[in-house]
Parts: sequence; C-alpha cells; structure tokens
Amino acid sequence: MILSERISLMEESLTLAITQKARELKAAGREAISFSAGEPDFDPPRAVKEAAIAAINGGFNKYTAVTGIDELKEAIAKKLKKDNGLNYSPKQIVVSSGAKHSLFQLFAVLINRGDEVIIPTPAWVSYPEMARYHGGKAILAQTKAENGFKITSVELKAVLTDKTKIVVLCSPSNPTGSIYAREEIAALGEALKGSNALIISDEIYEKLIYGAKFVSTAAVSDDLFSRTITVNGLSKSAAMTGWRLGYFAAANVEIAIAVAKLQSQSTTNACSIVQKAAIAALDGRADDDIETMRQRFEKRRDLALESLNKIEGLKPIVPQGAFYIFVSHEAIEKDSMKFCMKLLEETGVATVPGVGFAQEGYFRMSFAADEASIEKGIAKIASFTRGYRP
Ligand SMILES: Cc1ncc(COP(=O)(O)O)c(C=O)c1O
Repeated sequence: MILSERISLMEESLTLAITQKARELKAAGREAISFSAGEPDFDPPRAVKEAAIAAINGGFNKYTAVTGIDELKEAIAKKLKKDNGLNYSPKQIVVSSGAKHSLFQLFAVLINRGDEVIIPTPAWVSYPEMARYHGGKAILAQTKAENGFKITSVELKAVLTDKTKIVVLCSPSNPTGSIYAREEIAALGEALKGSNALIISDEIYEKLIYGAKFVSTAAVSDDLFSRTITVNGLSKSAAMTGWRLGYFAAANVEIAIAVAKLQSQSTTNACSIVQKAAIAALDGRADDDIETMRQRFEKRRDLALESLNKIEGLKPIVPQGAFYIFVSHEAIEKDSMKFCMKLLEETGVATVPGVGFAQEGYFRMSFAADEASIEKGIAKIASFTRGYRP
C-alpha cells in the first residue's frame, strides 16, 4: 500500500460530484447560476489592498516569526478585547494560513488515537474529516431544526463521555446561519462542568450578522474561557479567502506553543504581505467597507428569503449570520444529493446538498451572488419544485 492509513481515513468531499457537474454544464455552454459558493463575491476592503501593496513596495519579503509578526498579534489581541470582550495576550495567539489551517493544526496537537470529538450536525464537513485524519473519533451529534440546529445542553450531555477531548461549536453556523445566544452557550458550559473537554469555537462568520447579537463562547464564563480555543480569520469578514489568513487564541499557552512547533516544521509563517494587510483589516481602517458588505448581504438574504418562502414544499431556516440559507426540501424529496443533482441538471442552478453537512432533506444556498442571479435562480428553483417528480 503506497498511501498512509491516515489519509485513507479521510473522505473526499461529497459535494465534488455537484462541482464536477456544474463544470460540465458550463463547458457545454449551458447557463449556470451558482449558489454553492463558500466565499464573499466582494473585493477585500480598500485599506487592506493598500496595506498589501505598501508591504510589497516596502520589501516586506522575508520569513517572519512563525506565529506571526508582533504588530499583527497585538492587533488581533486588541480586536478580541474590543469586539469579543476577551483578554488574550499575543503569546496565546497563533497566526496561520487560514482558519482551516488553524483548525487542522489544533486537531493535530490535541487529538490522541480514540479521542472523541463532538460535532453538532449539520456541520461544516471539514471538522469530522480533520478529526478522523488525526486518529480521533468524530461523534456527530444530530441537532433539531426546531432549535435552529443548535445543540442543547441535554443533547450535549447525551454524547459527552470521559473520552471527549473536543466539542466543536460554529457560530454563526455554516450551513444554517444560526447563532448561539449567551444563555445557550452558558447552558453548554454548565453541561461541560467537571469534564476535561475543550471547546473549539469557530467564529469565522462573526462579522456577517443580521440583527442578532453575536457572543464569543470564551466570553461567557471563566470556566468557558479556560476551556475554549477561539478560532477566527479574515476569509469571510474581509472577503480575503484567497489571501489565506486565520488565527486562534487559547487560554492555555501550551497549545499555542505546540502549534508553533508544528507550524515551524511545516508551513512556517503565514504570508508576510498578508500579515501586514491583515492589520488593516482588524484595526478599524476597513470597518466601513466591511459594514457595506454586511448590508449588501443582509439585503440579499431578505430578498432570497422572501422568494423562498413562497415556494410550496420548501422551508428555509432564517439565517442570523453567515451567507447561507439552509432550506428543507423534505416535503418533496428526502435525498438531498438526488434533489440537488436534478436541480442542477434541469435548471443549471448549483446548490450544496445537505448530506455534505450530514443533514439529509436540505440544501444549502449561498447568497454570495448578485441580486439579479438570486431572483433568477430562485425563480428556477420554484418552477423545478413545482414540477418535481421523485
Ligand atoms: C465554518 C468554517 N470554518 C472555517 C472555514 C475556513 O476558512 P479559511 O478560509 O480561513 O480557511 C470555513 C470556510 O468555508 C468555514 O465555513
């Protein structure tokens, strides 16, 4: 066998089939509308671009400190204090090449073979795959639509064991857009009291919220502060997906030291230019542009919800954050891959099947698309749904 056991534990994305089909339709000249994007369709803020250009022209080309330049780590610490009420010092922070990279490395330094990682589902597909790759056991904890697909303390207790190493929380959630309220987080914290479980709190969609209040998990209690690792990044908040910059902060400095060791032997520092640009994304200079993007997203969300709500057989969950609407099509078809594949083949509209998030009977529609495409695409979904034959 050429390949390692480890890589065979990881599965390919279930949604690849959809991406491939969309590509084929495009190549055949068919009109395609993509609601499958996991990234903002906006440019990064002007101040970010200017800071990157200044860094290039200023010759900021060399390796940096592995965990990030001081100036950036201080900007992150300030941001966590100002926006989230969290007191982290720069030595508790590690900057990496995207939040995905931060998560991967956290799993690498925390998981021993057989450790359990609780992942409330529906969930972003990379969590279980990363957990398995590192020898962990992904415990998928099914949540309920009537609770906004948020795990409750009772549901958490039901899957908590003495092997639980990590509980993953994602708020605002990909794919549902749900946000955990302070009291919901507090209840989860109570459920964890007495256990050694850590929480990885993925807060990457924090800036894209629509009328709801966002609360950082670590800010809810001292106990939660000490057991939570706060993960964030600039991909979604500053439309910088391709720039690759993420970070985490952990109360226990041992975790930062371990990730620094791993990163020093693998990827070294996040791109030097992007680190300079990231400061501009965090220190207030980009706030107006970020707010403009948020407002555009909110308008599109409302537009999409209004149209989706009129379609018989579909039931959208109202997202409080992120840029996705998770839509139930259970009333007309249980199999999400079948539904999404047929939708794509017959109308050219690409969505992501719920099964890709471990949730059958739903599709995820991204509203990171312009208003005209949203209207046209949903009209196509409406006529497809009307004539649906399983
Ligand atoms: C929930 C969630 N976490 C993390 C990421 C990864 O972000 P990054 O681009 O910073 O690696 C994504 C991207 O799709 C995401 O949806």
